[in-house]
Amino acid sequence: MTNASPPTSHHHRFLAGASAGLRPLLTLHGTGGDEADLLPLAGIVAKGAAVLSPRGAVLENGMPRFFRRLREGVFDEADLVRRTHELADFVEAARDAYAIDAPIALGFSNGANIAAAMLMLRPEALSGAILIRAMAPFAEPPEGEPLAEKPVLVLSGAMDPLAPPENTERLVADLRARGAAVEHRVVPGGHALGQIDVGLAKAWYDRFGSGLSASWEKAPI
Ligand code: MLT
Repeated sequence: MTNASPPTSHHHRFLAGASAGLRPLLTLHGTGGDEADLLPLAGIVAKGAAVLSPRGAVLENGMPRFFRRLREGVFDEADLVRRTHELADFVEAARDAYAIDAPIALGFSNGANIAAAMLMLRPEALSGAILIRAMAPFAEPPEGEPLAEKPVLVLSGAMDPLAPPENTERLVADLRARGAAVEHRVVPGGHALGQIDVGLAKAWYDRFGSGLSASWEKAPI
């Protein structure tokens, strides 16, 4: 901990890490979830790592989300841009307050979508991302800093009606064009997160989330 106070922009939980040298996680829940939702998943994917877990600041019929949408699958992009910057500012303030390194986002659905927007608009806020059931967050991808080999795992569901494969492919192509080292796996099933996702996310974190030294930058893809 430092002398900086924890940020107040987002209701959140912070779990201090038990093991040194592990990248912290930033867990980002889906629509209707909250900051507690992904903590059990984080405990499996990155056992011993610090976890920063904010609650989405937007309410849709009482359900927390990270940004507004006009209808299912159609986003209010002006709000998305604003909320993405607010979330990145929150992460930066939390890094100061809790003395943690740039986290890896672990996002599901709406949380994965804002994590994808952060990679595009504020890439310095994240050291990587696990995007589960993500969609392309913008109709026209915004300009942004290069992603310089930032490691990203995208897990999509073959039968996902909310995030159809061609939409996720657009996201993957855009992140690759920006220079991210993207691994894209399509798992059987739909939008729900399942055991296969857990195993793939853990295996990926084991490769990219440990070793906070210089070797992080050089980890083989
Ligand atoms: C979104 O609105 O971010 C996506 O459609 C996923 C969801 O239903 O939350």
